[in-house]
Amino acid sequence: MTTRPHVASLARPYNCRVEPTTTVGRLIDRQPGMTAAELVGHLTPPPQFAAASLENYVPDERYPSQRAAVEAMRLFASDTVAAPRGLFSRKPVTPVAKPGVYLDGGFGVGKTHLLAALWHRTRGRKYFGTFIEYTAIVGALGYREAVAHFRGASLIAIDEFELDDPGDTMVMSRLLGELVASGSRIAATSNTPPHALGEGRFAAQDFLREIHALADRFTTVRIDGEDYRKRDIEGHAAALDDDDFTAALAREQSAVTVDDFDAVLRHLATVHPSRYVGLISGLEAVGFRDVRVLDNQTDALRLVALVDRLYDAQVRIYATGVPLDQIFPEGMLSGGYRKKYLRAVSRMIALTSITRTTGDAGPVG
Ligand SMILES: Nc1ncnc2c1ncn2[C@@H]1O[C@H](COP(=O)(O)OP(=O)(O)O)[C@@H](O)[C@H]1O
Ligand SMILES: [Mg+2]
Repeated sequence: MTTRPHVASLARPYNCRVEPTTTVGRLIDRQPGMTAAELVGHLTPPPQFAAASLENYVPDERYPSQRAAVEAMRLFASDTVAAPRGLFSRKPVTPVAKPGVYLDGGFGVGKTHLLAALWHRTRGRKYFGTFIEYTAIVGALGYREAVAHFRGASLIAIDEFELDDPGDTMVMSRLLGELVASGSRIAATSNTPPHALGEGRFAAQDFLREIHALADRFTTVRIDGEDYRKRDIEGHAAALDDDDFTAALAREQSAVTVDDFDAVLRHLATVHPSRYVGLISGLEAVGFRDVRVLDNQTDALRLVALVDRLYDAQVRIYATGVPLDQIFPEGMLSGGYRKKYLRAVSRMIALTSITRTTGDAGPVG
């Protein structure tokens, strides 16, 4: 196989055909337009949770809370008929009958797995998305239209509930209040970054405090344990030199994009975050050239949103320049968005490390 010609063509942003099976484009040329229905229609579990069930969740017997969590979810799911409860209902609320459940726990203990399992078990009109996706939809549709879309759904599953932006938390709290009143049931998970076990101890209390108007409608389920993947997420995101970068992209068999990192940041500013899912749809891998340390929070938060979508779709990342785990400067990491940045770091490490085990030539970098 002759790779050198590919090296030459990949080094140029234009004339992007590499070989018949590989389509190289640019992320910045993609302009996803999505209707409200498409945005909402995308609210389903990410592909890697398509088969998640309560049955294939394997509780770690060293942590009894894991088996208890499965049982709690089973109980919650068995209450399949959404019983619309009047706001002024005098009926005593039993723990089982509460319309909300909140899964609180560390990184990798299977919160998203259990949330997806619940979603799969639920009949009727149901939604599954991250907190960020829901807030993006409220931003795109407007609050009233968003309420109209979700009203009466049998289940609203919210992964990685975030409490670090008071405005977002308030909007979501209000939205959930209206949805619970419409008979919807809510399931949410906490957003715990890697390396923060112990740090997340009070997440459940924080959550209930922030949504205090709804607090008595939520059962909280604490899940202890270790990262199931036991994947080494310490270390660095692979940064490639120009030759390895080009070679790695040339080995990809399908749709990939190659862009300068700065151009991607500029492009993200022109696309609403709720449309990032369309931006990356169909891609197997993305290449970022000349990654650098970020210097403003707005770019950083947009990149976090992009990384979440890349992670959901398990799109491999190849990059040159600064390793992607080092792009958030200390000032950002110690600020209010620390959790988001740490999550993005762990996800970028994961997505750049997929590349090491792919391709005929074996490890890269
Ligand atoms: N107890 C378990 N049994 C089976 N699979 C698990 C278990 N816990 C986690 N997983 C799997 O490990 C991966 C990480 O779990 P995830 O649900 O994403 O964790 P969390 O959302 O708590 O960070 C997923 O692929 C999930 O299906
Ligand atoms: Mg999760």
